[in-house]
Amino acid sequence: MRLLIIHENPRPDSSCNDLIKTALELGHEVKYVRTRRLIARLSRTGMEVIDYSTHDRVDCYDGGVVRSFGHMISLSQFMRRVAILRLLELRGVVLMNPVSSLVEARNKLLTLIKLKSAGIPVPETLSTESLRVAYDEAKRMCPLVMKPIIGSRGYGVVLAQDADTVFNIMKSSLTYGQPLLLQEYVESRGCDIRAFVVGSQVIAAMRRRATQSWKTNIAQGGKGEAIRLSEELEELAIRAAQVMNLWYAGVDIVEGKEGTYVLEVNASPEWRELKHVAGVNPAKYIIEFLVEKVKSGELP
Ligand SMILES: Nc1ncnc2c1ncn2[C@@H]1O[C@H](COP(=O)(O)OP(=O)(O)O)[C@@H](O)[C@H]1O
Ligand SMILES: [Mg+2]
Repeated sequence: MRLLIIHENPRPDSSCNDLIKTALELGHEVKYVRTRRLIARLSRTGMEVIDYSTHDRVDCYDGGVVRSFGHMISLSQFMRRVAILRLLELRGVVLMNPVSSLVEARNKLLTLIKLKSAGIPVPETLSTESLRVAYDEAKRMCPLVMKPIIGSRGYGVVLAQDADTVFNIMKSSLTYGQPLLLQEYVESRGCDIRAFVVGSQVIAAMRRRATQSWKTNIAQGGKGEAIRLSEELEELAIRAAQVMNLWYAGVDIVEGKEGTYVLEVNASPEWRELKHVAGVNPAKYIIEFLVEKVKSGELP
């Protein structure tokens, strides 16, 4: 099979390298492409997607793993890249995760709404573009977590102790057109759970312990420890991935005193730490799942 690994970086990162290596080992042909280098051509005779770096047609590949649309990009760049990836799908390239699911999962507010609609517990959350509303609600909710609507690796996620801190942060972020989510702080002694779901299976899980900040992200110094999930937590993680229509996902679960919540569902989770502590390589499961999807012939 001919497979694409799609990312923004000039060179593949560790997850992309795992995917490339695994695909080659399984006997597939693999090409690494950068989202910014993709060209869409709509001509009199039809449509094609070309890789600017090599002038190759990439719309004749069978499938692809989309790892990143790109960081710090404008709304127009995001829209352009979404459209081109969607064109790849329309040309018959099976993308994992499906583009529409990737777009929805990038939106933390929409993710929480979809999870909550499906009956999956999420922390109490407020989204507003009004500073007055944010201030008034913060008086009731503090301490609370402020987080960007688009974000990852814990960047820009702030723990605010009082309403005036919320006021100051929200005031500047609103000035730049960046409304932050306000979320109930779930105390869990600096730990949470990362469950890695592929298809309808949790392939590995770890407890993440914060070491350098109050956040558990590996990018923020969090350390992982392999664990076996209870049946209920496995089911919760699988359901969360399915609600988001993700073929693979990293589901973050926090166990607080008053309940267990899904914090977020990552559509392009990194796995270096998980692979290290759990001894499981997600790349193998992802490529195998993608190949099955290509063989089944169903398109998203
Ligand atoms: N409501 C919350 N209560 C407690 N801790 C939280 C909450 N939201 C986020 N965190 C902490 O902050 C980290 C990053 O938040 P998250 O929403 O997962 O954003 P990101 O996409 O940047 O990882 C989490 O891994 C967790 O440690
Ligand atoms: Mg997270």
